[in-house]
Amino acid sequence: MPLLESWGVPTRLTSLSDFEGCYRGLVTDLANDYLDSMDDDARSKIEIFTCGPTLMLKAVAELAASHDIPCQASLEEFMACAVGGCAGCTVEISTPEGPAMKRVCVDGPVFDASTVVWG
Ligand code: FES
Repeated sequence: MPLLESWGVPTRLTSLSDFEGCYRGLVTDLANDYLDSMDDDARSKIEIFTCGPTLMLKAVAELAASHDIPCQASLEEFMACAVGGCAGCTVEISTPEGPAMKRVCVDGPVFDASTVVWG
């Protein structure tokens, strides 16, 4: 957190418990409050990069979409081969040609969150 702060990136911790110094709630609650506090010009300069559990990624993707903010999500999947051969890590992605199965290990792991079919 100190490194991010030194780069001018505001950082906060969130928790559903009452830990001192933490925002009480989900990270998406804090992010929503933060985005709502910005004017349109400042918000237009934001891009979200997210990683973590799939349900959280889905919530972050929905938050980004609700504020019309670009969002990239780093997906995690179990990988048997990790070189694109087994198709064990596929996720459904919306493409201009229609739905497609993409391999997280070689096509990702980072995808435009708005294209991920979260299920
Ligand atoms: S882990 Fe085998 S294709 Fe991705």
